Amino acid sequence: MSTHIRSEPAQKRARTLEPMCGIVGYVGSRPSQDILLAGLARLEYRGYDSAGIAVIDDAGSLGMRKKAGKLRALRDSLADAALADGHTGIGHTRWATHGGPTDANAHPHLADDDRLALIHNGIIENFAALRAELEAEGTTFRSETDTEVAAALLGHEFRRTGNLAEAFRAVVNRLEGAFTLLAVHQDEPGLVVAARRNSPLVIGLGEGENFLGSDVAAFVEHTRHALAVGEDEIVTITPSAVTVTDFAGNVVEPVPFEVSWDPASAEKGGWPSFMAKEVAEQPEAVANTIRGRVHDGAVVIPELEGSDDLFRGIDRVIITACGTASYAAMVGKYALEQWARVPVDVELAHEFRYRDPVIGANTLVVSISQSGETMDTLMAVKYANERGARTLSICNTQGATIPRESDAVVYTHAGPEVAVASTKAFVAQITALLLLGLHAGRVRGSVSAADAAEAVAELEALPAKIATVLSEEQAHVTQLGGWMADTRSVLFLGRHVGYPIALEGALKLKEISYIHAEGFAAGELKHGPIALIEPGQPVFVLVPSPRHSALLHAKVVSNIQEIRARGARVIVVAEEGDAAVLPFADEVIRIPLAGALFEPLLAVVPLQIFAMALATAKGLDVDQPRNLAKSVTVE
Ligand code: AGP
Repeated sequence: MSTHIRSEPAQKRARTLEPMCGIVGYVGSRPSQDILLAGLARLEYRGYDSAGIAVIDDAGSLGMRKKAGKLRALRDSLADAALADGHTGIGHTRWATHGGPTDANAHPHLADDDRLALIHNGIIENFAALRAELEAEGTTFRSETDTEVAAALLGHEFRRTGNLAEAFRAVVNRLEGAFTLLAVHQDEPGLVVAARRNSPLVIGLGEGENFLGSDVAAFVEHTRHALAVGEDEIVTITPSAVTVTDFAGNVVEPVPFEVSWDPASAEKGGWPSFMAKEVAEQPEAVANTIRGRVHDGAVVIPELEGSDDLFRGIDRVIITACGTASYAAMVGKYALEQWARVPVDVELAHEFRYRDPVIGANTLVVSISQSGETMDTLMAVKYANERGARTLSICNTQGATIPRESDAVVYTHAGPEVAVASTKAFVAQITALLLLGLHAGRVRGSVSAADAAEAVAELEALPAKIATVLSEEQAHVTQLGGWMADTRSVLFLGRHVGYPIALEGALKLKEISYIHAEGFAAGELKHGPIALIEPGQPVFVLVPSPRHSALLHAKVVSNIQEIRARGARVIVVAEEGDAAVLPFADEVIRIPLAGALFEPLLAVVPLQIFAMALATAKGLDVDQPRNLAKSVTVE
């Protein structure tokens, strides 16, 4: 593809594990505590079991505070007794791996007589050997973490070299595994040093100030000018300069990019939760993803310019992703096969590379990831690259690792998604896949201009139709969720593109309301799942339009009758005017008329609202469900 954005060769590495933590760094002239805490609030989706900051104050002393629990606990502690403020600092929000979520295990970790502070996202695989070596030399440790070992090593090296960047170089070359490390030392105020291997790091460029973050959300309210950091690179930031080197000390040129996210969109802005806000933003997410990609009734994706030969030459597409993104992939399969007439397989990224898939130079591997950092998906992309496939990512986060490892990227423009449960990113992913299907169909000559124009009209009508579902059904579905707060299990049935939506409806409910939920292909019902139906069992049924396939519609209506006969409480999602479902439905949720491939973007909305309402009725935190982090960077 001409849009070759890979800035470095895909690197073959030992399999690594990386936990999900959020990292922020600041140097400038403003009080650093406020900037660090605001950055951590935006990164809290990456982990929220403890948080901490370290600041070099104006007297040149290092202050540090860290607390188990959500960021609120750290804020409360700082409100009770603030650290002396300064203009250089680092902050961390943690998702525990080595050592439980305690104050002691929270980051930062201190070394060099508490004059140095270090934070870490990743897993240092050889930490046990390094710790034993340091303990033999007399170092004592205060935590169970692998991170404190890196801090202690850095302390030793700083004492030897008197230079933080040089000390960093010595340390990173001894570490195995995955890490983003940030450190400050009180002897070098006005400097933050960082390093990256298999773990995300981006730089924000300000006026007289600079930032570091796990992703751009950490600093987007201050600057949209950013630099991507490559694998195995060390970064130093001061208020006026940014330097990037490789681990050997050779200067490298980082790749600049502009962040298009509106900073206000990463704020809750009066909504009860980020999830509620993000559900409401779905019309905009779809419209923004379409924008600039439709010309004269045809889809032309500018990022794919120059890749026509590739699209004509491919004989197979594999779409790989995890979780919600994999359900978007399932919808994408229908679209690509229909319009581009190419066989498509959908593979969960964590299954894909543990077998021996048939991949060649004519295989296009499409990865989908909101965060662009999901480790399973990243490793699948690297594997596809190694096997000689062409790789294209559909991603929502600029500067993320997966697009950097891919031959090309089609960004979804959903804006920052903060709630752990994915909503607006999902509809944007499906939109991008529909666009990709129409783009590839045009290039391959497999979709007629008339069909393409009709599909484009459907696409462009989607934002208004999603808005209609939101305005017409929000109150009704919220009420249903409230009534069903004590429900212990909910089933979801769908066929064709309704099947992945059934899976997504079940996933939304599981992850934020903690109740049992299953999605099934409705045709599979009689092959086993119907045994689950007992009187009162709530079942959502996604009914396809009779206008597209009377046969499919009739089959789903007969599935409804089968479960109803066994006592199920049937909640139907059906298009306006479909009267065939009325005799058998306890509740009917209406969606506007749309083409078959476009219905998923409408049908998913009530399922998201239902999950949110039920979780809220149970008094749960819908944005930060237990045990989860948004960006799953653990294999
Ligand atoms: C969605 O609600 C989930 N939190 C999860 O399944 C998510 O979609 C999955 O982990 C993939 O994340 P990604 O899109 O950032 O790669």
